[in-house]
Amino acid sequence: MTKENPLLLNITQAKFRLKFKEESGTYLNGIDHLIVGAPVYAGKLPLPVIETLNTIKVKDKQCTCIAVYGNRDYGVALRDLVKKMTNGGFSVVAAGAFIGQHSYYRIIRVAMGRPDESDLKIARSFGSSIANHSVNLLPEQIPVQLDRFSRSREYSALVPAFVAESCSNCRECVETCPMDIISPESGDYKNADLKTKCIGCMACVNACEYGARIDKTSWIMKFMVKLILRKASVTRTEPLLIPNS
Ligand SMILES: Cc1cc2nc3c(=O)[nH]c(=O)nc-3n(C[C@H](O)[C@H](O)[C@H](O)COP(=O)(O)O)c2cc1C
Repeated sequence: MTKENPLLLNITQAKFRLKFKEESGTYLNGIDHLIVGAPVYAGKLPLPVIETLNTIKVKDKQCTCIAVYGNRDYGVALRDLVKKMTNGGFSVVAAGAFIGQHSYYRIIRVAMGRPDESDLKIARSFGSSIANHSVNLLPEQIPVQLDRFSRSREYSALVPAFVAESCSNCRECVETCPMDIISPESGDYKNADLKTKCIGCMACVNACEYGARIDKTSWIMKFMVKLILRKASVTRTEPLLIPNS
């Protein structure tokens, strides 16, 4: 951010990630404070986020790290985010874990409608307090929630299915897929190999108005997801703010 003209760098888009990885310095040299946000997948940062942040090298710049998780567990994601940015040369002055509606809410309702007004109020007040922060946070100061998902290297995501007869060829899914693995011609995955790169984010399912991309899955998988998210579906967690002032 600069105070006058905040710049948005959307590393969710596969094409922009490629450009950013090649010349991250060009994008980051002009900024005074970077607010970096990433979702939590299986207690970790998603692989595309890790690969992108590993290319960062700056000097004398401040940063705030935000992880967004689905009310279950933020695992090692926030600590790793702080570690990556510190390794990239940033002074991390603030960090937070906020809650977003769970990507698998169609299977079990978790964190519905979040971030809600209460979350946004906390985010706004945290945002305005950051300007006065001068601490340099160390990764060890960031709490972790170590369960078997965050310990494992696996991501175990649900891969959406394609229903050819429902496809209107509007290409919304092609545009929103952060992995660029959907064919603009067919609406299906470009090939079987690329299908294995799907991170299960459900962006294509959310984007498709025609029911051509669906989160159809086996009963056993649904059962597992419900089991894993049962507690998160009935207990509300609040944002974590560091420092908490
Ligand atoms: C593959 C996958 C794994 C996830 N793992 C977790 C998790 O370990 N803990 C959690 O609380 N939420 C988890 N979530 C939920 C997301 O962190 C949450 O819904 C977030 O708001 C998604 O942001 P996005 O839509 O930008 O990807 C997971 C979501 C996906 C798709």
